[in-house]
Amino acid sequence: MQKFDFIRNYISYRYSSRTKFDVHPPFLFDLITKVFEDKKNYPDYQKVEKLKKALIKNRQTISITDLGAGSSMNKNLERSIGFIARTSSKDKKRGRLMYRLANYFKPGNILELGTSLGLSTAYLSFGSPESKITTIEGCPNIAALAEDNFKKLKLDNIDLICGNFDNELDKVLNIIPQLDFAFIDGNHQREPTIKYFEQCLSKTVNDSVLIFDDIHWSEGMETAWEHVKQHPAVTLSIDIFFMGIVFFRKELSREHFVIKY
Ligand SMILES: C[S@@+](CC[C@H](N)C(=O)[O-])C[C@H]1O[C@@H](n2cnc3c(N)ncnc32)[C@H](O)[C@@H]1O
Repeated sequence: MQKFDFIRNYISYRYSSRTKFDVHPPFLFDLITKVFEDKKNYPDYQKVEKLKKALIKNRQTISITDLGAGSSMNKNLERSIGFIARTSSKDKKRGRLMYRLANYFKPGNILELGTSLGLSTAYLSFGSPESKITTIEGCPNIAALAEDNFKKLKLDNIDLICGNFDNELDKVLNIIPQLDFAFIDGNHQREPTIKYFEQCLSKTVNDSVLIFDDIHWSEGMETAWEHVKQHPAVTLSIDIFFMGIVFFRKELSREHFVIKY
């Protein structure tokens, strides 16, 4: 069997991914043009990125409750806030994409699995201040820092739940009328990812958007992504290597795209 090779897979993505000129669904063309290619420097970006810079400089250590696949870079259960900010949160390019996706779709309900320090949540919140955002984080010390960050940024459309996805996800799904947008960014393993996807399906509607982070991080995550893509309810999937996005719109004919981003 061939060994899993992240770098080789990334190089293959760079060479084989397509641009908007290779895609035909107008929905996807519009999304690429207005969201993926939007290079405007929104003032809200600076608010999140200034906070991230300050967090990266913070050497204070906290103890971590690791309920997920864990950090591949530091197995200690004591970590500095700076280390968490540097290694757990999305980089600028993908954080900004989250902002623009939320801004473009303006979802009623947003669910995030994996808050960490709340930086991706902040991008989502600034991108769509009218949305009701629920975000779940398993580590109480990290969750407390995220709450502080939401206060610093004066974000008031976020409900942070501290607990294990395995216990909290169903409770959230039972309360919300429908799931318009979800960002699955924690516990990057095959079985949990498939399970969270299937739980989310109970509340997806025609216009829902589900985003999975790190779909090529491991063999297990690639298998989970294949499962998600092949699900009969999914009509369009977009692979931008570090993330996968799926749609359920019945008006689209079933297609899968690997898009340069
Ligand atoms: C990659 S980080 C999230 C980063 C954040 N979305 C961002 O970009 O700013 C994943 C987070 O999920 C949390 N997590 C992992 N598995 C979990 C589980 N089973 N239940 C609750 N939280 C979990 C971890 O504690 C970690 O803080």
